[in-house]
Amino acid sequence: MSTSIPLSSVLIPHHIAIIMDGNNRYGKANALGRGEGHIAGKDALDPIVEYCLETGVQVLTVFAFSSENWQRPPSEVALLMRLLASTIHEQMPRMNKYRIRLRFIGDSSQLDDELQALMLDAEAKTAHFEAMTLVIAISYGGQWDIAHAAKQLALKVEASDLRAEDIDSDLLGQYVQLADAPAVDMLVRTGGEYRISNFLLWQTAYAELFFTQTLWPDFTANELADMIAEFAQRQRRFGKTSEQIETQVLR
Ligand code: IPE
Ligand code: IPE
Ligand code: MG
Repeated sequence: MSTSIPLSSVLIPHHIAIIMDGNNRYGKANALGRGEGHIAGKDALDPIVEYCLETGVQVLTVFAFSSENWQRPPSEVALLMRLLASTIHEQMPRMNKYRIRLRFIGDSSQLDDELQALMLDAEAKTAHFEAMTLVIAISYGGQWDIAHAAKQLALKVEASDLRAEDIDSDLLGQYVQLADAPAVDMLVRTGGEYRISNFLLWQTAYAELFFTQTLWPDFTANELADMIAEFAQRQRRFGKTSEQIETQVLR
């Protein structure tokens, strides 16, 4: 680890979310064939998962395919779907070895039946693992997520199970994806863009943001360790004043 701060003194984020961006640029920069950047990207995930597990992160959520990525050329979409299926196959023995629960978020109705079945099977087989949770966002969009939650509430109102005046942010927050997980503490985006690209809009409301020029296939556990060390140095105020936060810490 390139930081001098010992891990034990670092405040560990409970939930890290990563926008794994930059695969195609990595492919071009390394004169790889079409799609090979995505293959390199698939392999970059394992050391990050292992590092999060060792560090005590509870939930790692990675953005693998966005609701907007459906607009890419059909051949690229097909390749990404094949890679997602092989990722799930390859991850299963690792999930068993490390006792990691695998979950998926996103609009799975857009995915083909075989992939949906594979995802359900992986979730069922790892549901009892408690060492960490790895969440893979596939066909996911933050706006879809919020609209989907709103629809659940609307159905309850329609069925007279809920009064519209009882809807507030706490209630809506119980219907978004990962409502049962801690809020995202750290949002990391590789690949040098400074945007959220419709990732976890609700869940990142108070996340600390980290952007790096490193392209996803080049991203390492060392770089994540440095970000976690910086995370521990930031004062999260959640709307309060510094003085309020300092007295809270002293108490
Ligand atoms: C991220 O890499 C992977 C997906 C969006 C599926 P990109 O394919 O977006 O790579 P760049 O950003 O074009 O380099
Ligand atoms: C975000 O990357 C989605 C994933 C990493 C899966 P994109 O490459 O699709 O984002 P934009 O289009 O550049 O914002
Ligand atoms: Mg991109």
